[in-house]
Amino acid sequence: MIDPGTDLLIHNLSEVATAEGTVPLRGADQRRVRRIPGAEVLCREGRIVFVGSPEERTRSFGELPDTERLDGRGGTLIPGFVDPHTHLPWAGSREEEFAARLAGKTYQEIAAAGGGILSTVAATRRAGEEELAANVRRRLDQMLTWGTTTAEAKSGYGLSREDELKQLRAIRAASSSHAVDLVPTLMAAHEIPPEHRADRDRYLDLVCEEIIPATAEQGLARFCDVFCEEGVFTAAESRRVLEAGVRHGLAPRLHADEFVDSGGAELAAELGALSADHLIAVSPAGVDAMARSGVTAVLLPGTSFFLMKHKYAPARRMIEAGVPVALATDCNPGSCHTESMPAVFVLAVFELGLTIEESLAAATLNSACCLGLGDEVGSVEPGKRADLVLLDAPNLLHLAYHFGINPVAAVVKGGRVVRRAG
Ligand code: NIG
Ligand code: FE
Repeated sequence: MIDPGTDLLIHNLSEVATAEGTVPLRGADQRRVRRIPGAEVLCREGRIVFVGSPEERTRSFGELPDTERLDGRGGTLIPGFVDPHTHLPWAGSREEEFAARLAGKTYQEIAAAGGGILSTVAATRRAGEEELAANVRRRLDQMLTWGTTTAEAKSGYGLSREDELKQLRAIRAASSSHAVDLVPTLMAAHEIPPEHRADRDRYLDLVCEEIIPATAEQGLARFCDVFCEEGVFTAAESRRVLEAGVRHGLAPRLHADEFVDSGGAELAAELGALSADHLIAVSPAGVDAMARSGVTAVLLPGTSFFLMKHKYAPARRMIEAGVPVALATDCNPGSCHTESMPAVFVLAVFELGLTIEESLAAATLNSACCLGLGDEVGSVEPGKRADLVLLDAPNLLHLAYHFGINPVAAVVKGGRVVRRAG
């Protein structure tokens, strides 16, 4: 959607820091981030064509006196963040529930009393498609401000054929008029809606026989997601939904083992899902199963933080087992209200125990790969799309070392500067 336009030379950088390749990094390789001091980056027709020293660039491409330049002012250039798990198209707000949680109620108690996801479902059902698209656009503005250039976005607050499709159309409308690219996911199996509480199988029939086929037919989603969790959907129900999705060309991903080990990681492994997400309560057997089948763990430390759980996914064990780890915001109104990947990055370092290099790979290359975009984005390398973030920081370490500020000085999307701070 971004017009590729002319060339762009990004110069005067202290370093370029990037993971490399087109496949997810795992195990010890997840730390293999390349840091190139004093490099320049040349973008041509929306793609990166050169990363290296000014001298090499002059030898290969000449002085380029007329080329548009982005002065890095001694900052650090990294790939645009890829956020592979968000619930962007919602209406309404849940700060009253948040206040109740601050006063001691748990997320599950609020949900059991009819609040939680279902209160956002009620508000989202009342909203029109245009209102939802405007809400998504506002959230995309925030994402761009914090350096996200590609994100996944889920439905799941409609829970009826019309309202799920309305959310997916809102995602498409918002993304087609915004610099941030969105990859849509159908999550009709996010919860059982109130009108089907007495007959959950009837709702699963509706999801599998009507909502999934209609979504696929209209080309409104790439992935199918399900909330596999005690009190929501069982592993057997989740399998049924995800298999129906696969039959209609929607690749599976799951909310797995967020609060209780529900066999979600094992199911993700069995189905060859692109990712299993959350995993705060994953079992050692679940981690091993994911490692064996190469499922990426999308970790959402912002959710542990925002729900005040004082419990985080076992990220180190996953890396040691050889599971590729990715990071995402989970941006939603109930369990993690943030669009900021830098905030998630800080929590990954301080609470998940990832190194700064592992976190960078997790928030860029590994997250791109689990959206099927590893060939396109996620690293600063010739051939990839020129989706880049200039940090007002002398090196990569500052992404965690200087926390609570917005480090993003500029964002380049498809070779064009789409945002500058200040
Ligand atoms: O990923 N876990 C389920 N769904 C969301 C929360 C949605 C909500 O509370 O509105 C999540 O955390
Ligand atoms: Fe989620």
